Amino acid sequence: MPSEGAPGIIADLDRLAAEFAAEIASVASEQDIRAAQARYLGKKGRVSELMKALGRLPAQERPAVGEAANRAKAQIETAVAARLAALSEVALAADLARTVDVTLPGRGMRVGTLHPLTLVRREIEQIFLGLGYEVRTGPWIETEWNNFDALNTPPDHPARDMQDTFFVEGGRILRSHTSPVQIRTMLGGPPPVRIVAPGNVFRRDDDATHTPMFPQMECLLVDRDVSFADLKGTLLHFVQRFFGPKLGVRLRPSYFPFTEPSAEVDAACYLCEGTGQSNGRGCRLCKGSGWIEIGGSGMVHPNVFSAVGYDPTAVSGFAFGMGLSRMAMLKYGVDDLRSFYENDVRFLAQFR
Ligand code: PHE
Repeated sequence: MPSEGAPGIIADLDRLAAEFAAEIASVASEQDIRAAQARYLGKKGRVSELMKALGRLPAQERPAVGEAANRAKAQIETAVAARLAALSEVALAADLARTVDVTLPGRGMRVGTLHPLTLVRREIEQIFLGLGYEVRTGPWIETEWNNFDALNTPPDHPARDMQDTFFVEGGRILRSHTSPVQIRTMLGGPPPVRIVAPGNVFRRDDDATHTPMFPQMECLLVDRDVSFADLKGTLLHFVQRFFGPKLGVRLRPSYFPFTEPSAEVDAACYLCEGTGQSNGRGCRLCKGSGWIEIGGSGMVHPNVFSAVGYDPTAVSGFAFGMGLSRMAMLKYGVDDLRSFYENDVRFLAQFR
């Protein structure tokens, strides 16, 4: 209850300033100081509450009370300013007391690295760009026609089985190789054609040496009078640029529906340089054979040319396809394919 009469009110007002000072002495933030200030000087603050009694006082007593109120307000405001100044003093002192060793080296930004599969893709692209090829890409979701029919792959071919290929809605599939980019490119314009087509492909297997998705690189060259010797020469150039200058290439007869004749491509093992022996033992990379399989190849089948409207009697060409993860494993000596897909930075940061 506030004291009645002018002397009582004046005594109360004079006490307020002291109470306020005590209240903010222990407060350590500007926000709390401002909140306390509002509790005293705000519209419903303690000073205003006391001033309500002013109207009931005789007129001659009012000036003295008004004066006391102004005194209280001024003291409270002075206290606020002093407390704020003290706070910033403390903050400044703490700031100045910090010791900073400006001679320490900075904390550098960690720069990322390119994924080993990206490095290998770019390196192979560069080799073929140097031979005048273009880089082409195609979609991962393909028509069955581009992936199989146009590539002379009959409906009863095992690759078209549900067990081997991912079928998606709308009669489309996840492409099982990059060879459909051959079809897209030839449908897109007349010969000559010289392209490499890197990209992911999908097959239904998943074990230590197979992942359901893996990157391939396709190569297609179509022109007049292209021969098997051109294929072999191109592969030899590629292997020597990619693995090492003295290494040879071996072609083993094989079968692909879209090439005839067809061959598996082996590169001489760069670890034992084709000898099959390393450190006096059978080479661990090529398992003593001296050769490493790197892909499939062949001369473009006439039915493929017919499918895209090229005249098989006027043009010829070769194609090959390689697994990029296999290339990266061989090049960097990685022995588990899955390392490429686990996103372990300790592994990935080793390649640059
Ligand atoms: N497309 C074949 C595969 O994925 C590789 C290949 C490409 C073979 C071009 C011959 C010619 O196995």
